[in-house]
Amino acid sequence: MSLHGAATWALRGLDPEDAHGWAIKGLKLGLGPAGGRDDPILATSLAGLSLPNPVGLAPGFDKDAEVFAPMLRAGFGFAECGTVTPLPQAGNPRPRLFRLSEDRAVINRMGFNNKGLEAFAGRLARRGPSGVVGANIGANKDSADRIGDYVTGLTRLWGLASYFTINISSPNTPGLRALQTKAALEELLGRLAEAADSLPPAGRAPMFLKVAPDLEAGEVETIAAACAVRGLAGIMVSNTTVSRPPLTSRFAGEAGGLSGAPLTALSTRVLGEFAQAAGGRLALVGVGGIGSGADAYAKIRAGACAVQLYSALVFEGPGLVGRIKRDLAQRLRADGFASVGAAVGAK
Ligand code: FNR
Repeated sequence: MSLHGAATWALRGLDPEDAHGWAIKGLKLGLGPAGGRDDPILATSLAGLSLPNPVGLAPGFDKDAEVFAPMLRAGFGFAECGTVTPLPQAGNPRPRLFRLSEDRAVINRMGFNNKGLEAFAGRLARRGPSGVVGANIGANKDSADRIGDYVTGLTRLWGLASYFTINISSPNTPGLRALQTKAALEELLGRLAEAADSLPPAGRAPMFLKVAPDLEAGEVETIAAACAVRGLAGIMVSNTTVSRPPLTSRFAGEAGGLSGAPLTALSTRVLGEFAQAAGGRLALVGVGGIGSGADAYAKIRAGACAVQLYSALVFEGPGLVGRIKRDLAQRLRADGFASVGAAVGAK
């Protein structure tokens, strides 16, 4: 067993939130793995951003923008930090993170715990020029003007992030997902577009919307249309689900968002619906239950330009990224694709 395999195994014996805290500390101390050079077939682009490979770190792992550099070094093609809210926030009481080992799944109801926008901006401002680092922004639970919180986040981080993700799909901030409904979404995107137009053009970066996989009939089309009209670069599909497919773990009844293997099929299906609704107007990122090269490849063929993962890392450790990339490169070659881009949406 490698050193990092042994560390992953040891961390699995701890309370999941404590284990995450130790993983962050280890990464900050420089104990993370080094991924090496990527196979050139994996080089691709996402909304104009050049990526060495399409496998990104999903938000929630590095909420406070502390470890994006070691995660890029470990082999991720890009890293998304956050969700960050304007004010620091404690989140929900513990326990709020559950490992469903038998199901290769996670349930979380963290509730946007984070150290706030100032600390986050300071760390992004000190980062070096290399690597694609996204900022995922959200609203404080007690905010009187939630849309205003997104504008505050965008404004403060303008010029500091490679891209922005507007997260309106966490199930753990009551009422947040109501921003996905037509009128609220149009107001949100309108105010963000207005803010972007008033900020220095040099700081402009692609903006994505992150959606839930639990949408009602017609919502996919409405959301895709609103994003296209407002000039968003794309959509992240998807966040965790509040649905509960059959699960065997004793934590199956915990409240919160479910991620990992049981989310794979649902999130890939919704991704395909967005690909159809977007008709090439938006760049899609496939997130949800990726634990293998086959899962990543399925999302790309369903229309994702790039993918992200988090939960499978809990079970597999950082060595998983290298395995996914190797398998993905093999699958692309076996099917005669010369690049990731050539396989996007190739069903
Ligand atoms: C998340 N996720 C998440 N997403 C987001 O946009 N902002 C966030 O702060 C968080 N926080 C968070 C915490 C924890 C503990 C987990 C497990 C997940 C959701 C995450 O980015 C991703 O969309 C889903 O977890 C689905 O991908 P995986 O985990 O199945 O690969």
